[in-house]
Amino acid sequence: MKRIMLLSILFSLFIFDVNSQRLTLNDFEDYSIGTPLTMKTPSGSISTESTAVVTVDPEDPNNKVLMVTTNNWNTFIEILLPESLTGAMLSDQYEMISFDLYRPDDDPSDWKKFEIYSGSVNLYTDGIYPYQGDKGSWQDKRYYIGETTSSSRYIYLGFNSNNSICYIDNIVLYTPKYSYDYTDPEQTPRYWADLMGKNIGVAITPGQLDYVSDRRTLSISRNFNMIVAENCMKWYATEPSRDEFSWENSDKLYNFAQSNNMKLRGHALVWHSQLPSWVSSDGIENDNNWTKAELLDILKNHITQIVSRYKGKIVEWDVINECLDDNQWKIKANPDNGEYILRENSIWTKVIGESFIDSAFVWAHRADPDAKLYINEYNAEHWSGDKTKALYYLVKRLKESGVPIDGVGLQAHLTLGKVTATDITITFNRYNRLGLNSIITELDIPIPIEQSGLSSAYKQQAADFKIISDLVASKDNSPSLLVWGLTDNDSWLNTDKRGEPLLLNKDYDAKPAFTAVLESFRKKVLETGLCNPVEYVGPQKEYVNVYTITGFKVALGIHRSELRNLPSGLYIIDGRKEIIN
Ligand code: XIL
Repeated sequence: MKRIMLLSILFSLFIFDVNSQRLTLNDFEDYSIGTPLTMKTPSGSISTESTAVVTVDPEDPNNKVLMVTTNNWNTFIEILLPESLTGAMLSDQYEMISFDLYRPDDDPSDWKKFEIYSGSVNLYTDGIYPYQGDKGSWQDKRYYIGETTSSSRYIYLGFNSNNSICYIDNIVLYTPKYSYDYTDPEQTPRYWADLMGKNIGVAITPGQLDYVSDRRTLSISRNFNMIVAENCMKWYATEPSRDEFSWENSDKLYNFAQSNNMKLRGHALVWHSQLPSWVSSDGIENDNNWTKAELLDILKNHITQIVSRYKGKIVEWDVINECLDDNQWKIKANPDNGEYILRENSIWTKVIGESFIDSAFVWAHRADPDAKLYINEYNAEHWSGDKTKALYYLVKRLKESGVPIDGVGLQAHLTLGKVTATDITITFNRYNRLGLNSIITELDIPIPIEQSGLSSAYKQQAADFKIISDLVASKDNSPSLLVWGLTDNDSWLNTDKRGEPLLLNKDYDAKPAFTAVLESFRKKVLETGLCNPVEYVGPQKEYVNVYTITGFKVALGIHRSELRNLPSGLYIIDGRKEIIN
């Protein structure tokens, strides 16, 4: 009975808590169709060219929404805050803003910045011009809002675009309830990865480091000990014009990594995709008519400049990315003859031939002999797959030819419920026998739209993530596990068909997949006493958790001074082996 009472108290607290921290700014239901809303610049001038009009939801005739058309830059919808709230009060009470967005088929621009202001004070701006999601269906948008002391009673929000049409509904301020405390090291995967001497990493954009909010940047630095650039170190971004390099964004990532004791991983030196047009307009055609010698020169210069600039600063590089063909018919015909097919639709293969791979590794190695060099590929995780064997044979050839390669990056853009531990283990073991690492470089496992919201789907996702993290934790030749994005809101896969592929949800909260990775690493540390005090960079804590060497709990949260009261022996204290005499 007592238990039921306690449960119901807890339950009502939960409901109360959640409700008390939500404020709907506008759902447009109180307006009549056709009512115009003011659009202004944050400095206060009214825009007449851009319009915001209450209209009927394109998907639901009973719902009213706001249609926003911007025809000049820097114009946003103006909303008067309710209940005599000011910007300062708002930023005190709420952490996030959410709204529904619908992009009609005639919205002319896919890439635009979302911005929010309190009066003229900026609360959030997308750091880059992000893809704003697919047209023709409602999307759920959420942003962390910055802090302000502004006394303005107005907020301005919308896309900073001179060419945009969209529908907006249900603008809500709220503070999410977080299920984990990222300020407690033990609740973060990084803590356990540090103890194992492993890298747990995340792909980020320089924009994510702008408009610093604790939650966002700390979600990166507390949970991960490695970062990789999702885009800003690709060729189009680093060498946009021939021999003119742009370092600003990669420096920004490096500085963030440095100040947070994190490692920086380099992605990617040679790829057919995301090339600047001076190299090739589509990465396939040699439309600038480079000769083989010229293209080799271009390649050598690119690799040498970048790798030497970050010598000693970038610990590992994807030297080659996605160089294999999707259809490995030769392997299908005979899996044992060691033949592989390179991607034909690539300017590198077309103009240079296979040797671009060997050369790239050699140049990268010369520029930084200490950097670990990887070949990175997708759909090459499960040994039963043709492409996995193709990659293995290529890598074997490279290794046997003396090419300075340290391992393979398995991207691991995986399919929910289709992750098989035994099958991937074979792949890891094969590379181990070649004396090479196999690491996970871009892990994400999307949930199909029809399963979104089902707890069974998140459980399955957690089970799939656990398979990968168990593998990385248990294999000495697998030092790194990286996920391809911070929150489900940031994923490149977010379309209306599949989504929520990452560890943190749109509110930066831990999903079951996050807990699965954390538990997998934690268990490994506690079971084996695996530790690397030299690599450990976290704080030495005054209060510690003590386990026996086989992982049985002895005491949690005891003061270090009490350790001498324990029977003498070997213990795991905060993940590290210690002898108590
Ligand atoms: C993706 C980025 O996540 C997107 O933002 C970008 O538009 C396209 O590239 N394999 C890779 C990554 O090696 O570089 C890709 O990143 C995802 C697939």
